[in-house]
Amino acid sequence: MATKVYIVYYSMYGHVEKLAEEIKKGAASVEGVEAKLWQVPETLSEDVLAKMSAPPKSDVAVITPQELAEADGIIFGFPTRFGMMAAQFKAFLDATGGLWRTQQLAGKPAGIFYSTGSQGGGQETTPLTAITQLVHHGMIFVPIGYTFGAGMFEMEKVKGGSPYGAGTFAGDGSRQPSDLELQQAFHQVQGSSSVSVYFTKLKDLWPEYDSILPPPSSKEYADQLEFQRLLQILMGLNDSFEQARGQILVMPNVPTINQAYAMVIHDESRRSVGSNFLGNSGYNEPTAMQ
Ligand SMILES: Cc1cc2nc3c(=O)[nH]c(=O)nc-3n(C[C@H](O)[C@H](O)[C@H](O)COP(=O)(O)O)c2cc1C
Repeated sequence: MATKVYIVYYSMYGHVEKLAEEIKKGAASVEGVEAKLWQVPETLSEDVLAKMSAPPKSDVAVITPQELAEADGIIFGFPTRFGMMAAQFKAFLDATGGLWRTQQLAGKPAGIFYSTGSQGGGQETTPLTAITQLVHHGMIFVPIGYTFGAGMFEMEKVKGGSPYGAGTFAGDGSRQPSDLELQQAFHQVQGSSSVSVYFTKLKDLWPEYDSILPPPSSKEYADQLEFQRLLQILMGLNDSFEQARGQILVMPNVPTINQAYAMVIHDESRRSVGSNFLGNSGYNEPTAMQ
């Protein structure tokens, strides 16, 4: 069965919506993920919206609070208003009391993305103050951290987004999300993937980290780094690899990353063959968390 990721947002002028579309592409690029865009209801009247020069809404469906419960994971997006989420989004969350009472969102992973008008206008405070909503529902906040690599350290060009999530700057409204901001939005969803995809992504990220903070060239440091990266791979594997992870960790001689990878791949294909043999059509391909 597909993993359902809902991207739920409010956007008055289209900047958050543009990020949402990119996040959807990123989520849908992960095998087994079904991503869907949803808007929250508008609370302002047509008159007020016209006075604010808001363009007409897109035809993305409007979500009801109860529909949140269908998702396996949710990514919430909103523009900032005085450093925190727009009231339209807060009004929607205020209508989720029934879900809170029945704890239907508890344990679901959730991410956040946002748009601000200016630098210093709320790129950090907007997601940070929104975390309280997730906490009260018992949702698990999934930040981007620095997994986006070199893009997190951009200094030459203006760039929205932070370790809290993808973001953009609207400026006076005419600025559109930059390519780098869209790339970070695409990257926001890591979800689950096969061991080979997981391994390849990590291998691609390491040279980026090394170019930002070049490691010392000593042999001792190289060995230490290899060990740290081996642990990073093992800790990122999902629970279905617990046995393989345990076997690798108790080996008397620490294996190389390639040896460990071969063992995990072997474990994955062994289980996949076993499952096909049993004819279990509901079997989910073993995946690795990133
Ligand atoms: C009432 C109001 C308050 C705002 N407060 C802030 C703010 O505190 N910081 C900021 O950078 N931008 C602020 N903005 C600008 C919006 O964040 C900007 O219009 C929005 O990011 C555009 O996103 P959208 O195109 O998805 O609607 C404010 C806008 C309005 C209308």
